[in-house]
Amino acid sequence: MTIERQIMHRVKGMPTSDGAGVNLTRLIGTPYLDMVDPFLMLDFFSSDIPDQYIAGFPSHPHRGFQTVTYMLAGRIRHKDSMGNEGVIEQHGVQWMSAGRGVIHEEMPEQEEGLMQGFQLWVNLPAKDKMSAPNYQEFAAEELAEEQLDNGGLVRVVSGTTAAGTQGPVKQLDIEPIYMDISLPQAGQFTQPVNHTANAFVFIINGAISIGNKLLNQGELAILGAGDRVNLLASKPDTRVLLVAGNPIGEPVAKGGPFVMNTREEVHQAFADFQTGNFL
Ligand code: FE2
Repeated sequence: MTIERQIMHRVKGMPTSDGAGVNLTRLIGTPYLDMVDPFLMLDFFSSDIPDQYIAGFPSHPHRGFQTVTYMLAGRIRHKDSMGNEGVIEQHGVQWMSAGRGVIHEEMPEQEEGLMQGFQLWVNLPAKDKMSAPNYQEFAAEELAEEQLDNGGLVRVVSGTTAAGTQGPVKQLDIEPIYMDISLPQAGQFTQPVNHTANAFVFIINGAISIGNKLLNQGELAILGAGDRVNLLASKPDTRVLLVAGNPIGEPVAKGGPFVMNTREEVHQAFADFQTGNFL
């Protein structure tokens, strides 16, 4: 017998600005929703006004966690101080583990048109916080895609669907699920989610019923206990981001671009960055 996960808590997110002035909606990592272990932050950016995204995210450091950038529309060029460089295009993903340190920039590779996507911050356990940086980067055609009988489409960045479609991003510890699910009106999709995992959904477009509750465009819902998620689209062209992962369960000390276990480790990260001993 399986237990369907229900909506436990919902948030709308907070309009904010980050980087050099990029307008975005922060959904996780706000006064309303601090974190969903192991997920520290979720930003959704969506604008076709260049002034709201063109300044991008110039050179900045990270330590102690992973950044996951997934593009729904538009192009972002990333470049780090070790010489790694590339462009994340529509339906492409970059899953970067900053480990002990990365200094990079993330800049729009376009001067007009829609720029839309997510950046998710995923924590690392203490044993991996000072590990070597690592990139997993996949273009749209490298993601796993599953066509549903109802006409829907699931793009799988990470995790495995009930039908066996497996995403390319590998992550042993937290066993993440990261899926972009498009459904026609009245289309259904059921995803097994390990009972140990924390899980949430965000409605990119349309509306979704989970159990007897309805979620509308722009809403994020934390899901309760269970071992599967059942989504039922109640509008045409519905699109949902589903994310899940096992909690790490360690103390979290956040300090801007550094996320460690203690305040001392965050101070050390700032000191290392300022003295050039960061990488
Ligand atoms: Fe960054």
